[in-house]
Amino acid sequence: MGNSGEFNIWKIRQEFPMLQHLMHGKPFIYLDSAATSQKPRAVIDAMSTFYRDKYGTVHRSVYDFASEATTAYNSVRQKVKDFLNAAFVEEIIFTKGTTESINLVASSFGKAFLQPGDEVLITAMEHHSNIVPWQLACAERGAILKAVPINDRGELIMEEFDKLLSDRTKIVSVAHIANSTGTINPIEEIIRRAHARGAKVMIDGAQSAAHMPVDVQSLKADFFAFSGHKAYGPTGIGVLYGKRALLEKMPPYQGGGDMIDEVTLTSSTYQPLPLKFEAGTPMIAEVIGLGEAIDFIESLGRDKIAAWEQDILEYATKRLSEVKGVRIIGTSSMKGGLISFVVNGLHPLDVGTLLDLRGIAVRTGLLCAQPTLKHFGVSSLIRISFAVHTQIEEIDIFCDALQEVVLMLRPCMSY
Ligand SMILES: Cc1ncc(COP(=O)(O)O)c(C=O)c1O
Repeated sequence: MGNSGEFNIWKIRQEFPMLQHLMHGKPFIYLDSAATSQKPRAVIDAMSTFYRDKYGTVHRSVYDFASEATTAYNSVRQKVKDFLNAAFVEEIIFTKGTTESINLVASSFGKAFLQPGDEVLITAMEHHSNIVPWQLACAERGAILKAVPINDRGELIMEEFDKLLSDRTKIVSVAHIANSTGTINPIEEIIRRAHARGAKVMIDGAQSAAHMPVDVQSLKADFFAFSGHKAYGPTGIGVLYGKRALLEKMPPYQGGGDMIDEVTLTSSTYQPLPLKFEAGTPMIAEVIGLGEAIDFIESLGRDKIAAWEQDILEYATKRLSEVKGVRIIGTSSMKGGLISFVVNGLHPLDVGTLLDLRGIAVRTGLLCAQPTLKHFGVSSLIRISFAVHTQIEEIDIFCDALQEVVLMLRPCMSY
């Protein structure tokens, strides 16, 4: 394989208990990591050890298990800071996931910075999580939401971006890697151009954080969000990175315990960052699991992970293109490790169901990206997506199975 010879795939696969299972009596082939990743043993063990042997709450109590839990919890915030290369640990806010991170920014940045007539710029390839929160914020603030169009390869049309960017644009929010087309967006350039017009930039890193190196300082990103469960960690935990100076000017997103300084029956003062944005008892076990997931990713190295997944992408694209009737949706020259496609005349749900019977897990449906699907004139997609444990052999089995399924569903199909 091209750039990724150092990857010990056999050893990596041993780390994932789920990959040792059968599905419908067949070896389990998991090609749905873009939806959610499988969990390495270290993540599962750390969470169960915490619940079984070390359980206590954080930030509240003086007893030993509580202070140990607080130390463990805080150390993960430092780990995430290093993972993203943020400048300050206070810039790392724990949320439920990418969706909540974007909602937090849309709501709180909106209240602080959006005036009637201001503009928010997204793109036509966003996940619903990076569309709907901005619709809500714009409706609340009287701001206008605009979207940069994409071309038929699924790439942003940068000339249109330039035209849409105006002095009224307060924030641009864009996926690092689009979950439907796999397009890797030129975020350095987007950030440079947006900043030149005085706009802030939020990066939806749900599909990138676990798959390629991310350095928020060198990117000069104002906000960056990702989900633990797509990065080998647990569900229910995500991260929002925000530049300290911006987060300090933004009002709390939710109110409750932990985020306050002093409360009276009529008003309250708030904790400094990051607690100002973390109301209520946090997801302690999930944070601990996220810490283990980051250690797992860092032990492999994100540059090596990216190279491995690019090799898989290249091979899978070639093999998939050989299956008659397949139309790949998203053909940018810069893609992350996923491929969406349709098969001429077949419903993705039927294809997905028959692949399931062969032990193969793929994503089918709207992919939470209805505007993107509309652009390509399709109502449903099949998506395969890769992870550190994906092997070339699995791609071969998948493509052979797909060929078989196509013949079974359309024995007389003429292409
Ligand atoms: C690009 C992108 N953004 C946002 C999300 C939402 O992530 P979550 O459901 O973990 O909050 C996803 C999930 O598929 C995604 O792929």
